[in-house]
Amino acid sequence: MLKLNTLMDMEDHQVHGSNDLRYEAGVAPSKFFASPDHGDETATHSVQVMDKPREETVTHHTALPDGCTTQGLLQPPRCHRFEYTDRWADSDKARIDARIRDLIALGYHGDPAKDLTRSRTVIDMSNPATQELGRTMPTIVEWFKLIPRAVALDIIYDPEKGRLFNGVVLDDEAVRWFKNIDDAIGIRSRAAVLRKLLQHEAANEGRLAVASLACGAAQPVLETMAGLLRDARSAESTVTLVDLDRESLEMAVGLASSHGIADRVTTATKNILGLQGIDIDPGSTDGRVGYDVVEALGFLEYLPPENQESYTYNGVVDEKRSRAGAIVFLKNAYDLVRPGGLLIFGNMLDETHKQLEFTLNTVQWPHIQPRSINQMLQIIAAAGIDDAAELDIYCPTDGVYAVYAIRKP
Ligand SMILES: C[S@@+](CC[C@H](N)C(=O)[O-])C[C@H]1O[C@@H](n2cnc3c(N)ncnc32)[C@H](O)[C@@H]1O
Repeated sequence: MLKLNTLMDMEDHQVHGSNDLRYEAGVAPSKFFASPDHGDETATHSVQVMDKPREETVTHHTALPDGCTTQGLLQPPRCHRFEYTDRWADSDKARIDARIRDLIALGYHGDPAKDLTRSRTVIDMSNPATQELGRTMPTIVEWFKLIPRAVALDIIYDPEKGRLFNGVVLDDEAVRWFKNIDDAIGIRSRAAVLRKLLQHEAANEGRLAVASLACGAAQPVLETMAGLLRDARSAESTVTLVDLDRESLEMAVGLASSHGIADRVTTATKNILGLQGIDIDPGSTDGRVGYDVVEALGFLEYLPPENQESYTYNGVVDEKRSRAGAIVFLKNAYDLVRPGGLLIFGNMLDETHKQLEFTLNTVQWPHIQPRSINQMLQIIAAAGIDDAAELDIYCPTDGVYAVYAIRKP
């Protein structure tokens, strides 16, 4: 008998968007995942522009995608479709999607030495599709300079700002793209999954000790925790933010202050890819050692499965020492979770992400390792996590990321 400790138990109660959501125009994203409740809806990439707001998320239990091996894994994982209505996507989406299809059709024709697709470390500006993007939106080149650092995500979390974190003002068309490209919607929908999971944990546990690894500017976790800290039951919660990038952490501290929660937040400038474990405060709540929630969204897709001899992350780290790969990192992150707590992480999908080639060949987001759910299941199995642990997989309807949540027994 499965414990009803996931978002699934909220399904019958209709999960409504949190009150702070504003809707420009609701967009019902594509339905990529077959659902027993909805028949086979795996096909289209079209979006439906809604004329009024609707519930932000509803989860449905779905089958795992065909061909997934669950051998060596915990218990059989549960897969959930996470219906998501993006608050920024609008009627420009169809036009921008068509432009992206044209750019994808151009493929990659840049420097042959840089034709590495999934192991690029820099953006090759000699590629015609990338140049074409810069021609249409001159200021996008300024954004390229921030990739892949977390400060590049600031405009994605809030495109209405209209400027990059360093003050560079974007042209209007670039802002429209940040509202409507699938990658941006996917970053926001994975954050929405995290928000729902944190809210659910707080509803069950009250006070939470949360660790955010590779937190960047930590927008998703801080915005959620700001809401939870206003609630008397979870008012004593704490957040530990860990990243190597000082500038992102400074931004996170500024954000925590603007939410009035800086006194509940601690930061650590640390490399989280040590082979022997993640060297941060072990965390504790009510006498229990370990964190109630450890989250590492937006990180696994930078790591190959195996450990690396050297590790680069443009503008942040260039290390010649051995570094943990995805398998060892997952195990080390899991070790930080208290019994009964949750480890949450994501990975860009390669099966259902309709604009993946745009990400890899036009934007050329460096280091990205998209993975199928099956590939991630194999990494989780190799990490040797407890047999009795439970795994839930949340698939937002935009198809860009899957979010994995492992409950420690
Ligand atoms: C794409 S950002 C994700 C930020 C945030 N989790 C989010 O989803 O908005 C990836 C982050 O990983 C951090 N990072 C990369 N390598 C790291 C390492 N070895 N140790 C700690 N942080 C690292 C980067 O500095 C960056 O802030």
